[in-house]
Amino acid sequence: MTQDEMKKRAAWAALDFVPRHTIVGVGTGSTVNHFIDALASIKHEIKGAVSSSVQSTEKMLALGIQVFDLNDVDSFSVYVDGADEINSQKHMIKGGGAALTREKIVAAVAEKFVCIVDSSKQVDVLGKFPLPVEVIPMARNYVARELTILGGRPVWRESVVTDNGNIILDVHGLAITDPLALEQQINQITGVVANGLFAARAADVVLVGAATGTLVLQ
Ligand code: A5P
Repeated sequence: MTQDEMKKRAAWAALDFVPRHTIVGVGTGSTVNHFIDALASIKHEIKGAVSSSVQSTEKMLALGIQVFDLNDVDSFSVYVDGADEINSQKHMIKGGGAALTREKIVAAVAEKFVCIVDSSKQVDVLGKFPLPVEVIPMARNYVARELTILGGRPVWRESVVTDNGNIILDVHGLAITDPLALEQQINQITGVVANGLFAARAADVVLVGAATGTLVLQ
C-alpha cells in the first residue's frame, strides 16, 4: 500500500467523526484533499465548511461544498486536518503546506481536532521535520537570528508567500522535547505570526492510516 493510499484511508475514516447538519472545519494538504473528496460524498448532509486555506476553499467550492467565513461562525464541533509529525501526546508539527496560521485559527474555534495521518507521521520526538514559522516579511532576518539562538537552523522557504502575505522560515535541527514551551517561546519573538507547533492546541483524536487498517487514537 502506498503512502497516499494510507492517507486516503485515514481521510475517509474521518467521516465517522463528522456530525451531520453542522459546519465542519477543514484543514489543508494532500491528506485533507482526500477528506474533502469524502466530505463531498455527504455534502447534502452537512451545512458546509470553514476553511484553513485558499487551496482547500477552491477545492471545496469546485465540489459544491458551501464555504463559510469564520467570522460568521461562532462555533462548530469538529476540525479535520493532517500533520507533518505527531507524537504520542498528540502534539504536532504542521505547516508543510504553509497554511499553519489559518489552521491554528480554525483549530482554535473547533471543539474537537481530528488529525488524519499515514503511519509515517508518527514520531517519538518532534523536530526531524523542519518546523515552519510564519513571519512578517520585514522581520525575516531578525526572527532568523532569534531562532538560531534557540538552537535551530532557519531556512527561508523562498518560493512561498502565505495566504496572509507573509514568509515562511523552516527551522531545521531541533529535537523538540518540550513542544508546549518551545511553541510559546517562538510566539514571543516579535515578527512571528505563528509557528507550526500545535501543542497548546493538540489533536483530540488521531486516525492513523496503515496497511493493516485505520488505527483510532483517542
Ligand atoms: C499544511 O500547512 C500542513 O499543516 C498540512 O496539514 C501538513 O503539512 C500535512 O500535509 P500532508 O497531508 O500533505 O502530508
